[in-house]
Amino acid sequence: MYLIAASILSSDFARLGEEVVDVVASGADWIHFDAMDNHYVPNLTIGPVVCRAIRPLIRATIDVHLMARPVDRLIGDFAEAGANLVSFHPEASEHVDRSLSLIRESGCQAGLVFNPATPLCHLDHVMDKLDLILLMGVNPGFGGQKFIPSTLAKLKEARARVQAHERETGQRIRLEIDGGVKVDNIAAIARAGADTFVAGSAIYGAGREADPHRYDSVIAALRAALSEE
Ligand code: DX5
Ligand code: ZN
Repeated sequence: MYLIAASILSSDFARLGEEVVDVVASGADWIHFDAMDNHYVPNLTIGPVVCRAIRPLIRATIDVHLMARPVDRLIGDFAEAGANLVSFHPEASEHVDRSLSLIRESGCQAGLVFNPATPLCHLDHVMDKLDLILLMGVNPGFGGQKFIPSTLAKLKEARARVQAHERETGQRIRLEIDGGVKVDNIAAIARAGADTFVAGSAIYGAGREADPHRYDSVIAALRAALSEE
């Protein structure tokens, strides 16, 4: 039930292909792909051409986190590049309902992302269009930031909404957390309601110090902390 999504933002981009293959071989369930545009967030990263390049290397889900505007123009490009899941921030889209529909029409699963200060009321009229809700544990833009503790209460509220919706409709929605997830806080984050955990610096930072090709021990440590739940 718990899934770990390795954020390649903290990987060694000079060896991106190996980094992706190694982290999946070490037990990561998903590859988390942070697309930043230097407008919506103050950083510039990777786009559909890089997604297309890593797609043939792995079978794992590619979880695209769009931090870029305009949202709609990028959806088809990422779908064609082999993304499985595309999430965006409501502030970055002119028409949230339309963007969510576009994602599913393009054959991907759809997610909505909440910054620390973005209220969950954006969920009110779109639950049926969601496969995933992603709560940020940090302000988006950079890896390696510290988890903002008030996110735990927000996760509880999001979990309650997901449960109520599931009871009413039978529809399952994943609840993902992104930013500041480490071995020492992942259990508390799971207790608050998350079932999918993005980890960037926790995985790629730890692995690189030991063996440049293996991330087994840190991923095992994350899972061990989760299993204490
Ligand atoms: C931040 C990104 C995250 C980032 C997480 O804007 O969306 O996915 O890579 O990095 P860590 O796990 O280091 O906080
Ligand atoms: Zn992300």
